[in-house]
Amino acid sequence: MKAVRFHQYGDAEVLRFEDAPMPQFGENDVLIRVHASGVNPSDCQFRRGDYRAFVPLTLPFIPGWDVAGTIDAVGAKVTRFKPGDAVFAMADMFRNGAYAQYIAVRANEVAMAPNSLPPEQAAGVPLAALTAWKALFDDAALKAGQSVLVHAGAGGVGLFAIQLARRAGARVIATASAANHELLRQLGAHQVIDYRAGDFAAGLKDIDVVLDTVGGETRERSWPVLRPGGTLAAIAMPPPDEARARRHGVRAVPVRVQPHGERLADIARLIDAGELKVMIDRVLPLAYAAAAQRYSEERHARGKIILRIA
Ligand SMILES: NC(=O)c1ccc[n+]([C@@H]2O[C@H](COP(=O)([O-])OP(=O)(O)OC[C@H]3O[C@@H](n4cnc5c(N)ncnc54)[C@H](OP(=O)(O)O)[C@@H]3O)[C@@H](O)[C@H]2O)c1
Repeated sequence: MKAVRFHQYGDAEVLRFEDAPMPQFGENDVLIRVHASGVNPSDCQFRRGDYRAFVPLTLPFIPGWDVAGTIDAVGAKVTRFKPGDAVFAMADMFRNGAYAQYIAVRANEVAMAPNSLPPEQAAGVPLAALTAWKALFDDAALKAGQSVLVHAGAGGVGLFAIQLARRAGARVIATASAANHELLRQLGAHQVIDYRAGDFAAGLKDIDVVLDTVGGETRERSWPVLRPGGTLAAIAMPPPDEARARRHGVRAVPVRVQPHGERLADIARLIDAGELKVMIDRVLPLAYAAAAQRYSEERHARGKIILRIA
């Protein structure tokens, strides 16, 4: 099959569009014929080798854990899916990914794709939407009536977080550059702050939850906007410093997204009900994976970047 792989860690130039062996699939796996794959910042982080100390990859490696496609074959113990089913998934980051014509994925990581979306949009959903959901509701326990500050509201995770938080009855404040404010309001943000035009934290206080998608200086300036006992849920690396959180009288939670087929099925239902919109910045052919990752690394995508495979 055709795939994009890297044989060594490095910048986007190490990505090669080439022939690769078909994935082996086990008795609990499905083999998916990939129609589209979502590009996430983590794809670039793994390719650069940022996590090689904790997640050593067997090289050459196929990146990409967001997949939309059709079931090609199922393992002996799989009963929930059959060949031809249109599915989507966030796949296991330890295994070869979806920048390829085929991927093997554990069946419990897979859900039927939303009926209302073509694969080039469905592939933009799993990792980002699962991250937003886990951060807001599992890790930060956001409740109706509370307030949440979503950093990078126009990013892949931020756009889902705004919609999920609003739907849950929270008051939603988001940061973004001015060109994205109208979109963020349409998707449910009550207040939008231009982080480039001044100190986003000026005038903010007693926020219940901060979703930290940026880290660094943005994280540092976020501690004081939280109410005493509030939560900073950090998806940006490195994990937040708990001693620092204690000094501010707040809680810090490092968020780690995991594949979750059942939750993805719930997300598909929300999409089909028109309650969750998917924003795609651009779609590129698989052979342009290096260009797609370079664009992701600029960190100004508005929603998701997608690779078209089939
Ligand atoms: N821990 C986990 O499990 C997990 C899961 C998913 C993602 N992540 C991490 O979370 C981060 C965000 O992921 P993503 O997919 O949402 O990224 P993304 O789609 O690449 O984010 C792009 C957005 O970031 C905005 N942005 C850039 N700098 C900003 C700043 N200083 N303040 C506010 N907004 C800013 C840009 O908005 P403008 O164009 O308006 O500037 C752009 O819309 C990444 O570091 C990713 O690796 C972690």
